[in-house]
Amino acid sequence: MLILGIETSCDETSAAIVEETHSPAVPWAIRSNVVASQAAIHQEWGGVVPELASRQHIRDICGVVARAFADAHATWDDVDAVAVTQGPGLVGSLLVGVAFAKAAAAAAGLPLVAVHHLAGHIESLVLQNGEIPLPAVVLVVSGGHTSLYLVPAPGQYELLSRTRDDAAGEAYDKVAKLLGLGYPGGPIVDRLARSGDDRAVKLPTTRLTHKDRNAPELKGDLDFSFSGLKTAVARYVRERHETIRSAKASAERGSTATASAEHSFTEQDIADICASFQRVVVTALIDRLFDAARRYQAKSIGIAGGVSANSRLRAELAEHGRLREIPTFVPSLALSTDNAAMIAAAGLRKLRAGVTAQLDFNADAALTL
Ligand code: KG4
Ligand code: ZN
Repeated sequence: MLILGIETSCDETSAAIVEETHSPAVPWAIRSNVVASQAAIHQEWGGVVPELASRQHIRDICGVVARAFADAHATWDDVDAVAVTQGPGLVGSLLVGVAFAKAAAAAAGLPLVAVHHLAGHIESLVLQNGEIPLPAVVLVVSGGHTSLYLVPAPGQYELLSRTRDDAAGEAYDKVAKLLGLGYPGGPIVDRLARSGDDRAVKLPTTRLTHKDRNAPELKGDLDFSFSGLKTAVARYVRERHETIRSAKASAERGSTATASAEHSFTEQDIADICASFQRVVVTALIDRLFDAARRYQAKSIGIAGGVSANSRLRAELAEHGRLREIPTFVPSLALSTDNAAMIAAAGLRKLRAGVTAQLDFNADAALTL
């Protein structure tokens, strides 16, 4: 059985062909996975511009799907179903994939499967590693999400906690922006942090103990919060900048020092800020993840989504897993960011369970899982 997967929830247009293998350990094989990234388009705006994203998806979708078929040496006659991301995401972007998938499924007479984007991220772990020991706790951490799930059985996802404000990736992107480092910020901060002192800058850690009034069904004490951290970095940068500027001004009396924050810092200053920020983020993610694993007696732990590419997060996950004797899983770097192979995999899971969508289903920007 072959399935075509389509993903257009944010700024990547992706199509993939994934095969069901019937091997219990490794249920799916990627035949192709084409990703057209719009990063270069959004870079100059410092973040994703929704209107530009949906227009670019329209330009790219047909070519990306054609390429996915070519790479897989497959034709429409070979595929058995179409899976597409229904949400959450940017509604204009989602609509392009959903409209394409509906048209293609109707024209080719194929069943349609509507997939939750985060179910796709969770299944990227299985796509990469084969079936993982269950129950598992899985953290999906990206530019839009920081959500912790319990996976009690294949294809079942129970939300345990999520961020109350910014997603971890969003915090990386905002800190990179205020340091003038470019977009997306995560990989840049990750790289610069390697040469920094992670204790150089004192930054607050947030540990929530109270329930979230907006989500009374969640316990609340496993929730995340990153906006205070981002504000603390911003304040530190501003204060350091003031100190450097007044020192410069008194040294060069008469001349006016007007350098911007990023220009008045040394490379070591920037590396120290990146390392200190990264230590706090990674510690928060790892602490909550292993707390949840203990609380729910998980047999494995996974991290998926764009931020799972982070080198410190990967290293600490492996290290803590080894110390606490629990297997840990991450996707490959290619499967950690948005891609259609993970959507196809989650689609196969749903198709196997007999869950398909009707042609009148709609994209849902705030779809819950
Ligand atoms: O999953 P993804 O491709 O898209 C979303 O659904 O958001 O994740 C993108 C996010 C961005 O915020 C980016 O800065 C972050 O993942 N990211 C990283 C790293 N690589 C990507 N964050 C920290 N360290 C990295 N190495
Ligand atoms: Zn994503």
